[in-house]
Amino acid sequence: MAICVVDHPLVRHHLTLLRSVETSIAEWRASLRAMTRLMMYKVTESLPTEAVKVTTPMGPAEGTRAQSESVAIVPILRAGLGMVEAALEVLPDALVGHIGLERDPQTHAPHSYYCKLPSQLERRKTLVIDPMLATGGSAGEALGLLKEKGARDLALIALIAAPEGVSAIQARHPDVSLFVAAIDSHLDSNAYIIPGLGDAGDRLFGTAH
Ligand code: PRP
Ligand code: URA
Repeated sequence: MAICVVDHPLVRHHLTLLRSVETSIAEWRASLRAMTRLMMYKVTESLPTEAVKVTTPMGPAEGTRAQSESVAIVPILRAGLGMVEAALEVLPDALVGHIGLERDPQTHAPHSYYCKLPSQLERRKTLVIDPMLATGGSAGEALGLLKEKGARDLALIALIAAPEGVSAIQARHPDVSLFVAAIDSHLDSNAYIIPGLGDAGDRLFGTAH
């Protein structure tokens, strides 16, 4: 499996804001969007393009058109929703699917509650987005669902991964490219990433109790 750790000063800056308990909800959402945009530049390095001709004020020029319509972006609900808008700023014609998964608090296994996907996934580059890769159960399940629906060219984009999650995806989906901003130390006994950033869905939507 190809693993890319996107290491850039601005990515590290926004990741630090996402981790901090002092970051307000508005700043947290803004940093999630900023990090997603920054990571998408790396993720889209292999985006299909076509040659086009344009006319500048000085005459003809050869150009490039990025085929963003060939991409499907698939957030894992809920936290992946916070990355969609930024991904679409980079890939404005991409299609968007949604996969709803929630971890069981005791077993940490993902429970699936929603799935709506674009058609013809076999022809598309499919980008699964979720800020957190902890045990890898949710991302592994989402990638499995997408393969069942025909997706073949898959990448998983997470912001923080645990080594356990990376190993799980490597074992279950060795064909999938993985992009992360950081691989943290370990999981705690509740399968939360240490140091991580806490519960991404709760921080995005303000639902922490
Ligand atoms: C979080 C996160 C991932 C998942 C990662 O979602 O956004 O989807 O946990 O954990 P895993 O790698 O062990 O599966 P959660 O299940 O808390 O749902 P939520 O986004 O609705 O809060
Ligand atoms: N889900 C989260 O949102 N955070 C973690 O640390 C683990 C799973």
